[in-house]
Amino acid sequence: MKSNFGFTTKGEQASLYTLKNQSGMEIAVSDYGAVLVKVLVPDKEGKKVDVVLGYDDVKGYEAGTLYFGATVGRVANRIGGGAFELNGKTYALTQNDNKNTLHGGTDYYDKRMWRVEEADESHVSLVLRSPDGDQGFPADVDIHVTYTLTEENEVKLHYYAAPKGDTLLNLTNHSYFNLSGHGSGTILEQEVVICADAYTRADKESIPTGELVSVEGTPMDFRKRKPIGREIDADYEALVFGQGYDHNWVIDGRGSRQAAAMYSEKTGIEMKVYTDLPGMQFYTGNFIERETGKEGAVYGKRQAACFETQYFPDAVHKEEFEGPVVREGETYDTVTTYQFSWK
Ligand code: BGC
Repeated sequence: MKSNFGFTTKGEQASLYTLKNQSGMEIAVSDYGAVLVKVLVPDKEGKKVDVVLGYDDVKGYEAGTLYFGATVGRVANRIGGGAFELNGKTYALTQNDNKNTLHGGTDYYDKRMWRVEEADESHVSLVLRSPDGDQGFPADVDIHVTYTLTEENEVKLHYYAAPKGDTLLNLTNHSYFNLSGHGSGTILEQEVVICADAYTRADKESIPTGELVSVEGTPMDFRKRKPIGREIDADYEALVFGQGYDHNWVIDGRGSRQAAAMYSEKTGIEMKVYTDLPGMQFYTGNFIERETGKEGAVYGKRQAACFETQYFPDAVHKEEFEGPVVREGETYDTVTTYQFSWK
């Protein structure tokens, strides 16, 4: 179902596409930013709970600076020094996070109108034309993102691109999840699993040092389900630098596999995250400050968590990290799935 999502300050009309399944799940996606606006999941009593932070209309998304529900590209997370070299040429990007580039630079993908290619009750496909030089990156590329809501209660995100020249691609979704409901307060009591034996150590500016650190015996160990808040304030370098969790975990294994899970005892809602990418940024909303969102809710620090599947941050500068370079003739083709259950 397509509905009106308001007008941008430039006068463009944004729409909201609502998808539903037989078990009572419902999601909504806008063509503004290809943002995921709503994810309604039944709780253990059958009441529908919206488990993502967001805004009521397009104006909220235009003004917002926290990437609620955002589709992020060309390169999610950070590129150290705001520049990189490819085929012997140096490309300068916008330095929007200290001297580094965060989430593509300031001309964000989630602040543009995307074109809807297809839409029905269970899926919506969007495309963004990103020209050569866009945000400083080389090569024309059409970025395709398809959101599907399946009968298995999965929100499936398929990213596809075939660049017209060599470039970098590392797309992610920046949804902020709170499985007790988007306006329900902190997520510190909600439990998380991260299927990773190691994380990428980073410096004060969140640029990986290149070291992979074992989670064993550290507050970064989420191999067994534990409350997010249990060790979040520990005197541990990564947590001090990030003011909470804000790191990339090295997801065990390869190919499509489970990366993480989150659980709220209050609602009985569980979410499992699957990806075919090597890493995932687990970010606990440490920098949210009095942000007015949907239905008048006011969101604050640590009231949601992001599970951003990705190539490791700054991979373009690290020989040892699998890279985000996509050559002409190759395709970027990846799937991230958020699967819900409740009891
Ligand atoms: C980054 C955080 C950043 C946040 C922006 C995350 O992907 O890792 O450092 O503050 O995005 O909302």
